[in-house]
Amino acid sequence: MYILAIESSCDETSVSVIKDGHEEVSTVVLSQMDTHANYGGVVPEIASRMHVENITLVIDEALSKANMKMNDIDAIAVTYGPGLIGSLLVGLMTAKTLAYIYNKPLIPVHHIAGHIYANNLVKRLEFPLIALVVSGGHTELIYMKEDYSFEKLGSTLDDAVGEAYDKVARVIGLPYPGGPLVDKLAFEGADTYKLPLPLDDDSYNFSFSGLKSAVINLVHNEMQRGNEIVKENMACSFQNRVVEILTKKTMKALKEYDVKNLIVAGGVAANKGLRDALSKACLKENINLIIPKMKYCTDNAAMIGAAGYYAYKRGDRAGLDLNAKATIPLK
Ligand code: KG4
Ligand code: ZN
Repeated sequence: MYILAIESSCDETSVSVIKDGHEEVSTVVLSQMDTHANYGGVVPEIASRMHVENITLVIDEALSKANMKMNDIDAIAVTYGPGLIGSLLVGLMTAKTLAYIYNKPLIPVHHIAGHIYANNLVKRLEFPLIALVVSGGHTELIYMKEDYSFEKLGSTLDDAVGEAYDKVARVIGLPYPGGPLVDKLAFEGADTYKLPLPLDDDSYNFSFSGLKSAVINLVHNEMQRGNEIVKENMACSFQNRVVEILTKKTMKALKEYDVKNLIVAGGVAANKGLRDALSKACLKENINLIIPKMKYCTDNAAMIGAAGYYAYKRGDRAGLDLNAKATIPLK
């Protein structure tokens, strides 16, 4: 079964052709990162305009790379949320139009399901599993008993982890997106700043705004005293607290649910500090740790095509009345 998948929930316009939920036939990702970097973050209005300009070109290129025509496609999968509403609407309207014109089934896909199923493109998912989804927009712990069954154990109550990284990066003077730069600096510094361990409770929820504010306050206080902070040490102290709480709650979930498979997905899955800490903990507890290739960690349509196949098998179909949603639970 060939699925044409469309992803436009944030600042990547992406289209893929995926065979049977695991074979990537073609993928095109057009990132708007360079444009948004000028503003220090994603500007929603600009993002949707750029999606409008590019979406048909990206579809054409994905089909031509696959050496296929719309008539060779069996179904259309699209991210309908969560994400930036204006951005989502562009992908969704395009998908609905194609489904209508070519008379193909339309499969609604939750963006987080996509991030999890990115792994299916590398190796078939093994169940039960726990998924830690960490990106610029999400921080979630999810339990999956079988294909396309999601139980959310917890999520962030405020900032997503990538968002906190980007804000901390900005306050210590690094350009957007600062997450990877903070990660790099963290390995050049020492854990010298006293920062709080965020939301260290029994729940599987996270909270990063307190930690982020602690960094901002410290930087401002030092500036008022005429002191400079040591960027490397601040990056290291911040990263240690983030990695510590993510690792602690993830390992607790694996134990409580008696699960031996852990998937880490989303842009922050690239974080070396997090990878190192989870690898070490998983080795000790005999857990099978799976982290997708980098190109599948950040937003892309291949992951939506992979998830879409299992959504289709479960019977998920949408009509032309499907609407984009900025927030929706993963079910
Ligand atoms: O998954 P993604 O491309 O987009 C969203 O769905 O949000 O994730 C992008 C986020 C950005 O916040 C970026 O700073 C962060 O992932 N990120 C990192 C690293 N690489 C990317 N954060 C920390 N360490 C990294 N190495
Ligand atoms: Zn994402």
